[in-house]
Amino acid sequence: MVKECCEIRRYKKLTDKQNELMARAKGGLRRINILHGSVRSGKTWISLVLWCVWIQNMPRDKTYIMTAKTLTTLKRNCLDLLETLAGKKNFSYSISKKEGVLYGRKIYLEGVADSEAESKIRGMTLQGAYCDEITLFTEEFFNMLLSRLSEPGAKLFGTTNPDNPNHWFKTSYIDRRDELDFFMMEFLIDDNTFLDPHYVEELKKEYTGVFYKRFILGEWCSAEGLVYPMFDEERHVVKDIPESCGVEEYYISVDYGTLNPCSMGLWRLDKNLGVRIAEWYYSGRQNKKQLTDEEYYEQLRKLAEGYNIKCVIIDPSAASFITTIRRHGEFTVRKANNSVLDGIRLTGTLLQGGKLLFHNSCKNAIKEFGTYVWDERSGEDKVIKEFDHAMDDIRYFCSTVAGKRLL
Ligand SMILES: Nc1ncnc2c1ncn2[C@@H]1O[C@H](COP(=O)(O)OP(=O)(O)OP(=O)(O)O)[C@@H](O)[C@H]1O
Ligand SMILES: [Mg+2]
Repeated sequence: MVKECCEIRRYKKLTDKQNELMARAKGGLRRINILHGSVRSGKTWISLVLWCVWIQNMPRDKTYIMTAKTLTTLKRNCLDLLETLAGKKNFSYSISKKEGVLYGRKIYLEGVADSEAESKIRGMTLQGAYCDEITLFTEEFFNMLLSRLSEPGAKLFGTTNPDNPNHWFKTSYIDRRDELDFFMMEFLIDDNTFLDPHYVEELKKEYTGVFYKRFILGEWCSAEGLVYPMFDEERHVVKDIPESCGVEEYYISVDYGTLNPCSMGLWRLDKNLGVRIAEWYYSGRQNKKQLTDEEYYEQLRKLAEGYNIKCVIIDPSAASFITTIRRHGEFTVRKANNSVLDGIRLTGTLLQGGKLLFHNSCKNAIKEFGTYVWDERSGEDKVIKEFDHAMDDIRYFCSTVAGKRLL
C-alpha cells in the first residue's frame, strides 16, 4: 500500500499518466506491478518514484534487489536517475560491490545476464524486487525472482516495452493477469509531456514496421510480411551515383558462405548517405562449384579496385576468410556487429530516412528486398533464412559503421 505521501512532491512534476499511476497505486498495488508501453513514455521515471515511495513504508531489515539485463544497463537506465530522484542523501550505490542503500534499506544490484546472478538469488528471501526491461530476462530467472519474494507483502515492480505476443512474459503473465495478483498499466509516448514535441516527431519517424507498432504504438505484435516494407525501388535505387556530401569513406561488407551464397557490397559512406556502389554475389550451390578462400579474396580485391577501402566488415563467424584477408595484409578487417534484430531495426530506420541508396547494378540486393520476410510461424522474431545474404551484408554495414554516422 502506498500511503498518501508528501514525499511524492519531492519528485517534482509528473505527467497526467504518471499522476494517474500514483493515484491508482494507493491501495491498488499487487504482488506483480508492471508498466509497459512505448519508448520514452515515462515508465522508468515513475516506476522509480513508486519504488522509492513504496520502500519507505517497508521494513529496513529486509532484502531488496534491483535488476536489469546487465549492471551497465541498470546503472544507465535506473540507478543514475534514482540518484537524481531520491537525492544523494537518500540513495547511494557501488557497482563494484553490487549494492546500494535507498532510504536506509540495503539493495542488491544484479545483472541477469551475469552467470552468477541466478545462483545468488536462489538463496535469497526478498521483500521487494525492481526489474528494468523484463522482456530481456529469461523466464527461468524471472520465475526464480518471484519465488524468492516470500516475505509478507513482498512486491515486484517492473517496466518493459512490448515484444512478440508469444514472448513468455506475455503468455505466462500478462495474458494470465486475471488469475494472478497482477497490476499493469500502459504508457504511450504521447503521454510524456516532458519530451520536446520535435524530438517525439523525429523518434516516430525512426521506427518502422513492427518496431513502430511496438515501440511507438505500444502494441504486443508479431513481425509479419516483408522485413523492409519501406524499401522502394523508385526511392532507393539509382542509375547515377549522387555527388558525395563530403568526408567520404569506402567500405566493403561481406556475408560469407561456401555452399550458401557469399555476398559482398562496396559502399561509399559520406556525411549523410550510404551508397551501395557495386556488389559481388556468388552461390556455390547454384554454380555447382565451391570457391576457395583465395578465390573469394581475388573477388574482394576486384570489387575494391580503384577505391581506398577503410575496412572490410565481415560476418564474425567467417574465421577462415578473415584469416585469409589478414594474411594478405592489404585490407583492415572489422568483425561485424551481428545483433540481428537491432541491425534490422537500424537498417529499416536508415531506409525509411532515405539514408541508403543502391546502384541499379546491385541486382541481388534489390531482389532480396522483395523476398526477405519474417517467419510468421516461428512464434519469435525470426527472419526466414533464405535469400538473406545481401540482406546480411547490408545489415553488417549499417550496424557496424553507417548507423553511427547517419543517425
Ligand atoms: N515526471 C517527469 N519529469 C521530468 N522528466 C520526465 C518525467 N518523466 C519522464 N521524463 C523524461 O522523459 C524521458 C523518458 O522517460 P523514461 O525513461 O521514464 O521512459 P521509458 O518509458 O522508461 O522509456 P524506455 O521504454 O525508452 O525505457 C526521461 O529521460 C526524462 O527525460
Ligand atoms: Mg525505461
